[in-house]
Amino acid sequence: MKVRKRISALVLIAAMSLVGVGCSSSNGEGKPARVIRVAHGQNEEHPQHKALIEFEKYVEEKTNGELDVQLFPNELLGASAQALELCQTGAIDLVVASLGNLEAFEDSYTVLNLPYIMDSKEHYHEVMNDEEIMGPIYESTRDSGFIGLTWFDAGVRNVYTTKKVINTPEDLKGLKIRVQTSPTNVKMLEALGASPTPMSFGEVYTGLQQSVIDGAENNELALINNKHGEVAKHYSYNMHAMLPDMLIVNAKLLDELTPEQSQAIVDGGKLANEFELDAWEAAETEAKEKAEAMGVNFYYPDIKPFQEKMVDLHNEYTQNPEMKAVFDKIRAKGDEILARNENKENSKESSETKAN
Ligand code: GCU
Repeated sequence: MKVRKRISALVLIAAMSLVGVGCSSSNGEGKPARVIRVAHGQNEEHPQHKALIEFEKYVEEKTNGELDVQLFPNELLGASAQALELCQTGAIDLVVASLGNLEAFEDSYTVLNLPYIMDSKEHYHEVMNDEEIMGPIYESTRDSGFIGLTWFDAGVRNVYTTKKVINTPEDLKGLKIRVQTSPTNVKMLEALGASPTPMSFGEVYTGLQQSVIDGAENNELALINNKHGEVAKHYSYNMHAMLPDMLIVNAKLLDELTPEQSQAIVDGGKLANEFELDAWEAAETEAKEKAEAMGVNFYYPDIKPFQEKMVDLHNEYTQNPEMKAVFDKIRAKGDEILARNENKENSKESSETKAN
């Protein structure tokens, strides 16, 4: 049923793009509105979907209905890699893509996807908000037909399993763990001794249920929004990745629209980013509470042994000069934050000593 729905959506898109129209509604002057199709893989409860509703409202209002934003959640227009391909051709205008999807196009995204590259949430958010680091990355895929518009928080990824509790990398030995179709994720799980099993997000629940896989790795929302917690009851905070999803836009779209319409898309993206970041934390806490209520156990292993297994992967990637340049910028920011926090801590201590 789901598959049939998906295929017909693709046929619909192909037909629409062939004739170059999208006229489901009209603006105040009776002209057909330009339809802006936005696809993503989350359900309607997810903060990314809610943020995109804000995007839709903003863009439609700012353009007086000249643009008609239509949202397609739940991988309705195809699993994420496929939706990204449709965004390249312009059949979809915007898509939420994971770093795993994007690394097929650009090495800098691969670096952002490296396990344990971020020290903390503070580090990760500062990197993502740093124009100097992210600006060139957003632009880097223009020749592939799309660019980055903004980012959404996608939390911290951790491993979870149906049977065996994971406390050390050794516990992962031989386990079939679902990963996204991403070479970095495959290498990461291999380095941890597991047997990485790439599959699309929509297939993970059935994969867990039918024991095709022994586990997966994702943020807490997957336990609830995608019901993985019904089957996988052991969630271990090994914290291997803090990473965003990217809101991607077809490279030609912003040039094809009027300057006012493009500006509405850009500003709508900023608004969606702020909304999603605000909503993320509460969603994460709520998902964890709900997962606990459905019997998921949370474990807090020592992350150091997991981290140590990634040294070779970091070394391998930094052999590539382009990747090394991005890697160094991210690490420099991490060190800067560490020094800043140490200074703060020291001055707090010295003022406490003076006060005593
Ligand atoms: C998260 C993430 C998605 C990704 C998915 C997956 O939900 O936000 O971008 O596609 O995990 O593991 O496939």
